[in-house]
Amino acid sequence: MSAFADEVRAIAERYPDPRSATLPALRLAQERHGWLPPEALREVANALDLTPAYCKAVASFYDMYHLAPVGKHLVEVCTNLSCALVGAQRVVEAFESELGVAPGETTTDGEVTFRTVECLGGCGYATVVAVDHRYRQDVTPADVAGIVEELRG
Ligand code: FES
Repeated sequence: MSAFADEVRAIAERYPDPRSATLPALRLAQERHGWLPPEALREVANALDLTPAYCKAVASFYDMYHLAPVGKHLVEVCTNLSCALVGAQRVVEAFESELGVAPGETTTDGEVTFRTVECLGGCGYATVVAVDHRYRQDVTPADVAGIVEELRG
């Protein structure tokens, strides 16, 4: 048994149903691989006695799991209602222009993956942008060049 499988099974012991460990196990696998390639889905499935298809179906439901490779940095702009109302689309356009990619794409140098996401739970601080999972609040188009410069710096 691999160290990864041991770790996943230890997580599963915390729950009455081992399937409840699917999300933390996927997170662990993603930390190891950087994303969730088929090999990672197989590792999770084997450790929890599930199928890779089940693990992929679960992972595909959540924004935080990556079923395709992502860049070294991840920029996510919330475009849900509160953020949309204060101009999230203009923030999206500023990132598109600054990075030269559309939402869902990675810059050609592999540095930055840019995505739009559903509500990040910071609706009172719209527009919210998650940069490598750290939230930036009240982001406007004027902030975008500085954020990108920080990432590339
Ligand atoms: S709508 Fe953007 S954080 Fe909730």
